[in-house]
Amino acid sequence: MIEAMNLTKYYPPPFKGFLDLKSLKDFFGAPREEIPALIDLNFKVKEGEIFGLLGPNGAGKTTFCKIANGLLLPTRGQLLINGYDSVKEHKKVAKDMFTVFTGERDMWGIFQWRLSIYKNLRFIARLWKVSESEINKRINYALDLLNLKEKRNEWYQKLSAGMKQKVYIASALVIQPKVLILDEPTVFLDIITKSEIHNAIFELVKEFGTTVILTTHDLHEAEKLSDRVLLFSKKPILEGKPEEISKRLEVEFDKKVVALVKGNVKCDFGFKVQCFSKDNVTRIVAYLRESEVAQFLDGLSKYKILSLKVEELTLEDAFLLIFNHSKKVE
Ligand SMILES: Nc1ncnc2c1ncn2[C@@H]1O[C@H](COP(=O)(O)OP(=O)(O)O)[C@@H](O)[C@H]1O
Ligand SMILES: [Mg+2]
Repeated sequence: MIEAMNLTKYYPPPFKGFLDLKSLKDFFGAPREEIPALIDLNFKVKEGEIFGLLGPNGAGKTTFCKIANGLLLPTRGQLLINGYDSVKEHKKVAKDMFTVFTGERDMWGIFQWRLSIYKNLRFIARLWKVSESEINKRINYALDLLNLKEKRNEWYQKLSAGMKQKVYIASALVIQPKVLILDEPTVFLDIITKSEIHNAIFELVKEFGTTVILTTHDLHEAEKLSDRVLLFSKKPILEGKPEEISKRLEVEFDKKVVALVKGNVKCDFGFKVQCFSKDNVTRIVAYLRESEVAQFLDGLSKYKILSLKVEELTLEDAFLLIFNHSKKVE
């Protein structure tokens, strides 16, 4: 149904104008460094499956969605959707597909700001050639499911970001596409809106057998929604069922020790340890195997310990570790 084959995208290097000699040289053929966005993604998604593309900021998620929408040519490789090349045969792909881009970024400009939610959904239904007898039924169903009924006559322009995003998802419920691509559909949204959107996605798959590719940087969202996940950051890292991914991430380290100690500590414990010092206190975070905990605590005992916690490593920790987001580690 959907197949990525060595899908690779390098963006051309930024062109800085003719103002200096270097740019001039660059323009006339000296090699400039290209920006990698996707490198050799390979995966297959079956009909009715929710496939999670999980990666941090800059992993290449939006680049993938743009290629799927025929907006960007891959540098190498191919993406097949329903057997058609997503770029070269986009017309054949487009009628059975819908994409929800991140936040308010309405890539196609399909939403009319001075039309009501209802009229916008009607317009979209017609674009996707939903039969006249079905349109109202589907719109009512979508508005009901996403708790948008009372707002049906409000101008799109007046809606909050969360509401706009719900209208985007409602459009998918009205179109009932064979393939739905979601580019970080709940980023920046509150928990209630998030869960309404998650329910709508489940409903689409259950009722209409929609095949979904969901990109997200939110581990919990990927776990909750996906049948299978590809963890990637430009290059693929791990692929499998969400629980398999968690297991494989957790094998390497299984305990997290968080300690506050007095003084500015030199971080030379010999394990995977991060130290943050401020005001003569150091926060030490260590990722360890169970068997290493005692030895680490032994090394720590020469300092004055203000507090100490030993915790199970969560999937979130493992994810941050992989991407080396040390500053975000709690
Ligand atoms: N139009 C562009 N020109 C040059 N580089 C780009 C462009 N769009 C994205 N990139 C780069 O490609 C990489 C992947 O970007 P993107 O697909 O937006 O990632 P994500 O959506 O996962 O945050 C990033 O390093 C980004 O800076
Ligand atoms: Mg993005």
